[in-house]
Amino acid sequence: MRNNIVYSGADELTYEIREIVAVAKTVESLGVPIAWENIGDPVQKGHKVPTWIKEIVRDIVMLDDSAFGYSPTKGLTETRQYIAERRNNKMSAEDILFFNGLGDAISRVYSNLNRNVRVIGPNPAYSTHSSAEAAHANAPHLTYRLDPNNNWLPDLDDLRNKIKYNPAIGGILIINPDNPTGMVYPRQTLIEMVNIAKEYDLFIVADEIYANIVYGGTVMTELHDIIGDVPGMAMKGLSKEVPWPGSRCGWVEFYNTDKDANFARYVKSLVDSKMLEVCSTTLPQKALPLILSDGRYPDYLAANNEMYNKRAEIVHDVMSGVNGVTCVQPHGALYATVVFDQGMLTSQQSVPIDNNAVKDYIEQLVSGLAPDKRFVYYLLAATGICVVPLSGFNSDLPGFRITLLETDEVKFKTNLETIAATIGSYLASTAI
Ligand SMILES: Cc1ncc(COP(=O)(O)O)c(C=O)c1O
Repeated sequence: MRNNIVYSGADELTYEIREIVAVAKTVESLGVPIAWENIGDPVQKGHKVPTWIKEIVRDIVMLDDSAFGYSPTKGLTETRQYIAERRNNKMSAEDILFFNGLGDAISRVYSNLNRNVRVIGPNPAYSTHSSAEAAHANAPHLTYRLDPNNNWLPDLDDLRNKIKYNPAIGGILIINPDNPTGMVYPRQTLIEMVNIAKEYDLFIVADEIYANIVYGGTVMTELHDIIGDVPGMAMKGLSKEVPWPGSRCGWVEFYNTDKDANFARYVKSLVDSKMLEVCSTTLPQKALPLILSDGRYPDYLAANNEMYNKRAEIVHDVMSGVNGVTCVQPHGALYATVVFDQGMLTSQQSVPIDNNAVKDYIEQLVSGLAPDKRFVYYLLAATGICVVPLSGFNSDLPGFRITLLETDEVKFKTNLETIAATIGSYLASTAI
C-alpha cells in the first residue's frame, strides 16, 4: 500500500465471544459435540418466541407496507412517544435515537466522541464497550474495578481516584445489570456514581439492555430515576428480553441535554451521524409498543426471570463446592462469571483429551495464551463445553463466563458439574 490504510485503533477491536466460535467449530468438525455456552442469544439457545409476539410481527408485515420503508432518522415518532411517556417526563420523544442494535449505538457513541476524551468503564466489561472505547482513543480502555469478593460491586474509591487524577476522563460507563458478572447495581451505588459525575462534570453512559432481566428479589434502578441534572444516556434494546437479537433494534435515551450545551452538541453529532445512514430498522420499531404494552408481556418476562434465577442458584451451588474459584450468584442479565483465585493457574496445567486430532489441534494453540483462555481451550477440547475467558472481557482477573440460557435444567446442571470436575483436574494437574 502506498499509505498505511489501517485505522490507528484497529488492534483494540476484539470480540472473544465470537472469536472462540472458530476454535469450537474446528473442535466440532473433529468429532466433539459442542455445548454453546458462549453467546447471550436466547433464540440460538432454543428459547421459543411466544406465538402472540409472532402474531404481532406477522400482522404488521401483512397489513402495513410502511414497515418495509425507511423510518425517520431518530426512529418512528409514535414509538419514541410511547417510550418517552414511560419516563416520568425526564425526557421527550426528541431525546431518543434508534440504532441498528446497541452494537451500532456503542460504536457510534465512542467514535463520535472527541478523541482526547476518555470514558472509564467497569473491569471486567462487555467487550464491545471496552474495545470501541479503546479504539476511539487508540489506547487501552481505562477501567474501575468490580470486586468479586464484594458481590462484584464497583470499587468507588478506585473510580474516584482514577477520575481525580486523569482529567482526560469525561464520562463514566455503567453496565446495569452487568455483563459478564450478573451484578445489579444497588440504588445507593448508582447515586454515588452520579454524584462523582456531578462533582467532576462528567456524563454517564448506562447500558441497560438487561433492565428487565432481574431476578431473585433484586430491584433494578434505571438511570433516569436517579440522574438528577447530570447529563447522561441510557441504552436499551429488544435483543435480550423479547428476545429478538436479529431485529437489530436498540435505542439511546438522552437525559439533561438542556442542562449542558456541550453535551447537547455531542448528542446532535450522533443524530447527524445517524442521518448519514438514513435510519435504523423499521419493523421492530413498529412492533415495540405493541409487544411491550401487551398484557401478556409482564408474565412472560416474569417466567423467564424465574428460569434465570433457578439457573443462577444452580451455578452458585455447584461452583461453591469447587476449590480455587469464586462465583458470585448473579441477580440480573444472562450470565455468571467464575473467577480463579490468585495464583491458581499456570502455563503447565492441562486435562486429558480423548480425541487425538482435537488434542493435537488444541495443544498447538495454547502456547502463550492468557492463562484463563488456556483453561477455556482445554475445557472445550476435553468436554465440548464452550465458555468465554474473562480475559476477553478486558479483565484483570482470570476466569470465564457461562450463560444461564440452557433451557434443559438437567443438561445445564450436568454441564456445570462437568465444568466443576474439569476445573478440579486442571488445577491438580502437573506438566503435560
Ligand atoms: C451489555 C450489552 N450491551 C449491548 C449488547 C448488544 O446488544 P444488541 O443486540 O442490541 O446489539 C449486548 C449483547 O450481548 C450486551 O451484553
